[in-house]
Amino acid sequence: MARPSGKQKSTKLVIVCVVLLGFGLIGDYLWASSPHFASSSYISNWVSPNNPQSNVIIPKQEPHLADTKPLKIKVDGVHDRSLSATFADLPAPELKWEKMANAPVPRLDGAAIQIKDLLYVFAGYGTIDFVHSHVDIYNFTGNTWGGRFDMPKEMAHSHLGMVTDGRYIYVVTGQHGPQCRGPTARNFVLDTKTRKWQDLLPLPAPRYAPATQLWRGRLHVMGGSKENRHTPALEHWSIAVKDGKALEKEWRTEIQIPRGGPHRACVVVNDKLLIIGGQEGDFMAKPGSPIFKCSRRNEIVYDEVHMLDDEMKWKPLPPMLKPDSHIEFAWTIVNNSIVIAGGTTEKHPITKKMVLVGEVFQFNLDTLTWSVIGKLPYRVKTTLVGFWNGWLYFTSGQRDRGPDDPAPKKVMADMWRTKLKLNS
Ligand SMILES: *[C@@H]1O[C@H](CO)[C@@H](O)[C@H](O)[C@H]1NC(C)=O
Ligand SMILES: *[C@@H]1O[C@H](CO)[C@@H](O)[C@H](O)[C@H]1NC(C)=O
Repeated sequence: MARPSGKQKSTKLVIVCVVLLGFGLIGDYLWASSPHFASSSYISNWVSPNNPQSNVIIPKQEPHLADTKPLKIKVDGVHDRSLSATFADLPAPELKWEKMANAPVPRLDGAAIQIKDLLYVFAGYGTIDFVHSHVDIYNFTGNTWGGRFDMPKEMAHSHLGMVTDGRYIYVVTGQHGPQCRGPTARNFVLDTKTRKWQDLLPLPAPRYAPATQLWRGRLHVMGGSKENRHTPALEHWSIAVKDGKALEKEWRTEIQIPRGGPHRACVVVNDKLLIIGGQEGDFMAKPGSPIFKCSRRNEIVYDEVHMLDDEMKWKPLPPMLKPDSHIEFAWTIVNNSIVIAGGTTEKHPITKKMVLVGEVFQFNLDTLTWSVIGKLPYRVKTTLVGFWNGWLYFTSGQRDRGPDDPAPKKVMADMWRTKLKLNS
């Protein structure tokens, strides 16, 4: 939410919030229970049940709005734009994007790790009913895809935690299967030299999309969602690792993460561990659904940045320029700056639709300032990002419906690059 500058604004904000809360509850109710939205259509189910041209009618009997009149909101695209900066695109310089070879498959909620000129791209949804169980590799030198190989069958297919020491890729927990299936606590290690997989000690409990990093010889796993996919977890575990092996027999409990939930970026830089953005809450399996059908639940997206340093205490850093989630593999480090491409911000207050992010952000670690350094070719979440030889690359994710509609639509296989120019 915006920071109000005066009394009048605060009062307005409170009223808006109360109204939104009402809408949120009803929106969630509709999402979860309307037979219309229970259709098997991937987009209508996963993305948004609301037709943008339709009228949203709030039923009279809804207890939360018992003493208000039924509301009718005409969503006309004009109101959309005047609501709040949170949902709007921020002013951003145009970037010249070059379209590269498409990835072999489209991916939503995939994972990626860059090692030198290779981007290893893992798992992900192809559609809501189909998940990938293999790795594709993009070579930044040759600008080609290749080298596909399988993941272990038991490895999660989305919402993974993943990090590398430069040779071994540590893969922790995540969701196993399509739709909103359950998570696995199992962890794996890939030796990128031999492309062999090994097991790693499972987590004390499974998580969805926890913040994951290697820091001072230990693999850290923090936050994420709990087993029901929605409830934010605050636990933080670590284990000493070396050359793809755990050096300890159990995970150590560490200081809790200040904000639980999935999909935040987690970066180790200058010997400090940073967590950026993310959300609380996520889609959940519809109770009793044999296919664990995804149904939407309330989500709160954050702009917060926290840092863990020598004292093992979390310290707040300047927040992002808007709340941003689904960015766990959407970042790279260039010249002492963190660069983040796309994501999701707070849902639209009227349409309730998910709002995608189309900016490229820079967090300059010398000055601790955020800036917008460009626009992506479209708004997109769960991008997989790399940087090589002056070029910023991104692939995969789910893009918007078009320039005037930031709600999610198509799952992408595109690979793009632009010459990166940072602000000093
Ligand atoms: C990447 O591409 C370059 C140029 O085509 C090639 O020389 C190199 O061997 C490739 N790397 C790998 C690991 O395949
Ligand atoms: C990073 O720093 C180097 C050395 O100052 C500079 O040449 C380069 O352009 C910078 N990279 C970007 C992306 O700004």
